[in-house]
Amino acid sequence: MAFPETFLQDLKLRNDITEVVSGYVSLKRRGRNMVGLCPFHGEKTPSFNIYTENGSFYCFGCGVGGDVISFIMKIENLDYVDAVKFLAQRAGMELPENSYDDSMSRLRTRVLEANREAARFYFKTLMSPQGRTGLDYFHGRALSDATIRHFGLGYADGSWGSLCAYLKEKGFKESELVAANLAVRQRSGNGVYDRFTDRVMFPIIDLRGNVIAFGGRIMSDKKPKYLNTSDTPVFKKSENLFSLNNAKNSGSRELILCEGYMDVIAVNQAGFHNAVATLGTALTHEQAALMKRYADEVIICYDADEAGQKATARAIPLLRGAGLNIRVLTVPDGKDPDEFIRSRGDDGPNAFRALIEKSGNDVEYRLQKLRADYNLETSEGKVGYLGACVKLIATISGPVERDLYIGQLCREFSVDKASFMAQVDSELKRGAREDMRRQNRRLLNDLSGRGDRLDVDRAKKPRSSSAEEALVAFLINNPDSLGYILGRVTAEQFQNSLMKRYFVYVSERIEKNLDPLSGISGDFTEEERSRLFGILHKRSGIAESRRALDEYIQVITEESRKLSHRQVEEMSAEQLMASLGKLKENKK
Ligand code: CTP
Ligand code: MN
Repeated sequence: MAFPETFLQDLKLRNDITEVVSGYVSLKRRGRNMVGLCPFHGEKTPSFNIYTENGSFYCFGCGVGGDVISFIMKIENLDYVDAVKFLAQRAGMELPENSYDDSMSRLRTRVLEANREAARFYFKTLMSPQGRTGLDYFHGRALSDATIRHFGLGYADGSWGSLCAYLKEKGFKESELVAANLAVRQRSGNGVYDRFTDRVMFPIIDLRGNVIAFGGRIMSDKKPKYLNTSDTPVFKKSENLFSLNNAKNSGSRELILCEGYMDVIAVNQAGFHNAVATLGTALTHEQAALMKRYADEVIICYDADEAGQKATARAIPLLRGAGLNIRVLTVPDGKDPDEFIRSRGDDGPNAFRALIEKSGNDVEYRLQKLRADYNLETSEGKVGYLGACVKLIATISGPVERDLYIGQLCREFSVDKASFMAQVDSELKRGAREDMRRQNRRLLNDLSGRGDRLDVDRAKKPRSSSAEEALVAFLINNPDSLGYILGRVTAEQFQNSLMKRYFVYVSERIEKNLDPLSGISGDFTEEERSRLFGILHKRSGIAESRRALDEYIQVITEESRKLSHRQVEEMSAEQLMASLGKLKENKK
């Protein structure tokens, strides 16, 4: 997809990166840069940098970087074309004609349109005589008509073809219905049939109000109980949350995280609009980061059964890692939130509010859970339990918070506070030493390039890789040196294939009088782009003279003349003589 260069330049000019990022991250000035807490990984000290002079960002905590377009791609979860459209809209710019759509972007638009029509169709069916079983089912689960309407719930009838017929009538192609995962191709290859049949339907709506997917529940005991849209061009289940569209507008910086669709809906009906659920998968990092954008605190409200408790234990470190405060709500009597609220009848909302108010933070929850593993009647059990508490408390970063739990435990078990604290301290030191070791290991690996999948040549050719990297960075910062460089080095001499691609890309852009880096989001993968911005970040403090440049060139030239053993083995005698001759000539 090629947008005209002038348009992209204008787009960037009118979407100042500091301004755009400020909409998501609170930034502080530090020297010439702006810094803030990275929105892409959880952190407590800022390592997310905005370089206003070249309009780029880089996080040296997680290594993500890019320009304003790539920032929007990542934070709004959009592809390149949609991110450009998003920014154009933000700045009130018209999109240039003809460049409007590429085929992928057109397909995404069609899939969203098909989904919207499908949601309408399922809703209409639910409200029609054919939808009777579905409507009875929802009523049987105590959902009001207002709730059904608010969530746009629906019914897929048992005909295997009514949705396909309806959508084809509306002008959708079979391929579009299959891409939306609303239809499945016949095994014979001829024609398609409905993916969802005889199920009540839950549309999944994103933050911009698009219907991006569906969950469908069977009304009997048959399996699978829930069928969900597979990943499509507009939907990745690991990156979305059910009902986040409602929760975002609830006016609360607190989210209630449930296990299922029905729980979220029941909790909403009880008056709590800030509930969300994962979509049939365990909680992911992406979802935790997504929540962090709209909340400071998450109340985990999983089922009271063993699976729910396991899921809670898994979710806690993920949510903590994203920088969220956590509370854990325990639903009594082995129920899930939906069953609990229903079982209390008219008192459901109040009873649920009481549970929320009673919910403790994650440390309390875990200290409580740990008790079950020890027999606290015996001194052995007590010692074991307190030892486990020491480990847990040492994972808390705030000293005041740590002191609180230490105090409680010491009182309860009548142990000496000073000695308990000494144990926590030594555990903390051990943890710090481990962190340090891990960091050092990573640093070493970075330096040696070992285990670097993106840049596989670095470990094999460290010397040329460093010089090539330095040359690329120099060229980006000094575009006017292109002529000088091309007079002395060619891309063929690069030994590192990634650096070579950067070099070719950047020099072609400069040759055409373009900004060396704009447009990069479209031509490199996110990882490759981030790596390049990482290199620029790493070298931003280094004063670059012409003399340094000559050194890089010198190294690249030398390295490119070295012949690998393998190459020598494969050479004929004449070739070998010729290249030896060349080497000699160069030495002179
Ligand atoms: N789920 C799924 N596929 C299944 C079972 C469950 O995708 N075969 C997902 C659904 O998102 C569901 C959630 O996991 O909402 C929780 O599952 P479960 O606790 O079994 O269902 P409930 O939400 O309690 O559903 P219901 O009350 O309708 O039985
Ligand atoms: Mn349930």
